[in-house]
Amino acid sequence: MKAQNVYLGIDVGTSGTKVLAINGEGKILASGVGEYPCYAPKPLWSEQDPEDWWQAVVKVVPEVLAKGGIKGSDVKAIGLSGQMHGSVFLDKSDRVIRPAILWNDQRTEAECKEIEEAVGGRSRLIELVGNPAMSGFTAPKILWLRNNEPENFDKVAKILLPKDEIRRRLTGEYATEVSDASGMLLLDVANRRWSKELLSALQLDETLFGRVYESEDVTGRLTASAAEAIGLTTDCVVVGGAGDCAAGAVGAGVVREGALSTSLGTSGVVFAHSDSAHYDPLGRVHTFCHAVRGKWHMMGVTLSAAGSLQWFRNALCQELYAQAKASRRDVYEILSDEASKSPTGSDGLFFLPYLSGERTPHADPTARGCFIGLTLAHDRGRIARSIMEGVTYSLREAVEIFRSLGTTVSEVRASGGGAKSGFWRQLQADVFNARVATLSSEEGPAYGVALLAAVGGGDYSSVVEACDATLSEASSVSPNEEANRYYNAAFPVYQGLYRALKENFREIASLS
Ligand code: XUL
Repeated sequence: MKAQNVYLGIDVGTSGTKVLAINGEGKILASGVGEYPCYAPKPLWSEQDPEDWWQAVVKVVPEVLAKGGIKGSDVKAIGLSGQMHGSVFLDKSDRVIRPAILWNDQRTEAECKEIEEAVGGRSRLIELVGNPAMSGFTAPKILWLRNNEPENFDKVAKILLPKDEIRRRLTGEYATEVSDASGMLLLDVANRRWSKELLSALQLDETLFGRVYESEDVTGRLTASAAEAIGLTTDCVVVGGAGDCAAGAVGAGVVREGALSTSLGTSGVVFAHSDSAHYDPLGRVHTFCHAVRGKWHMMGVTLSAAGSLQWFRNALCQELYAQAKASRRDVYEILSDEASKSPTGSDGLFFLPYLSGERTPHADPTARGCFIGLTLAHDRGRIARSIMEGVTYSLREAVEIFRSLGTTVSEVRASGGGAKSGFWRQLQADVFNARVATLSSEEGPAYGVALLAAVGGGDYSSVVEACDATLSEASSVSPNEEANRYYNAAFPVYQGLYRALKENFREIASLS
């Protein structure tokens, strides 16, 4: 039976919407992507037209059905994922009032202060919603609309997250789920419901927001017009789904205590499952609800992770391109190989990966990238290694905060471009002192929410059961004791460098 049931994962991302079809055994049947633009009408602004997301869904779902030879009536459930924090403002006739303001938009500095002041300070805000105010989050965007476009604010009847706007178009329901709602900065994360105290302090009415579900719960079924538009039937249900970080973690099997995932893309994300709601009283890492019923997760973000190595390759390794072409290798493969042959600790060279400022643990836009400890002995391999070590120390900062708050870290699932390097996976094991594994298929958030759909559709009784039945490890490495000893001694030195340079970063920023 499971082999006949089909589940769709739809991930409403920033560069495009990905649709993935799996069967009830977790086998991938087909996938497709529909792209759309992102607009920056002013410096620091980032916006999209929600109609573009919907048009991508209407185009790609039928394409994926055709590609996989799937009958619409076999699709039992859909799971939705998407870019977090974005704001879709709807009027009372469900018309979109203005373009959606996205997670990477930076216009709301004043509103972040306004929110903290409204509740009597940062610490109180963290107690109420688990996190400090960050400019990318949703609540400051709502206040920005009220402060800057009052004529638009007056028309607002509902405020939805990107994937929840797609849910509305599919089912007619105004609904969200706990993981994505956590990133609105309006959810009482510990109790998994809207924070009445914060809503009242900000003079926002709870009816503006959707009903909050757990991620695997059914939130509605397709309307006749939506079913017709995408080639499915009105028997197909839509489950809560998850924000893209939690959905990606489900897809990586990070669904029980002790499990952590790292993703080394342009930015690096460290994500830890937690059985209870721990907050960092200093607000250095995010605490959000997980897509696993009644569980939470903590998350830290290094803004320039594999992006730091990309910068090095682009700015300083042009001559490697010819060598890579001649030997039919990738430039990153050569750099990783040279780094692996360099000594542990790169002969005393440290790299601070703050090429785009930093988010975790130092939310500091003035921080800058640095090499400290250069000598005449430093060649390309040692420099490449110091970059990979510096980025991995930066991820360890988040890991240490999780540990200090009582989260166990025994097992790491590595993903993203940087995890393709066997050397970088071993380095993570040595720096974190944990086993580091990769999975046989890496399909990201769309796979995670397709699994949630399989739970909502009745093929599994829980997310944990679905992950255990469908995911398998492709590789794993264990920490090397001697290297770990070295990194344990070097890590506090790395941490001290930011403290020592913090004021200099500010001075440098004030020069320009
Ligand atoms: C999470 C975050 C991003 C977006 C973009 O806090 O800002 O991962 O969800 O996809």
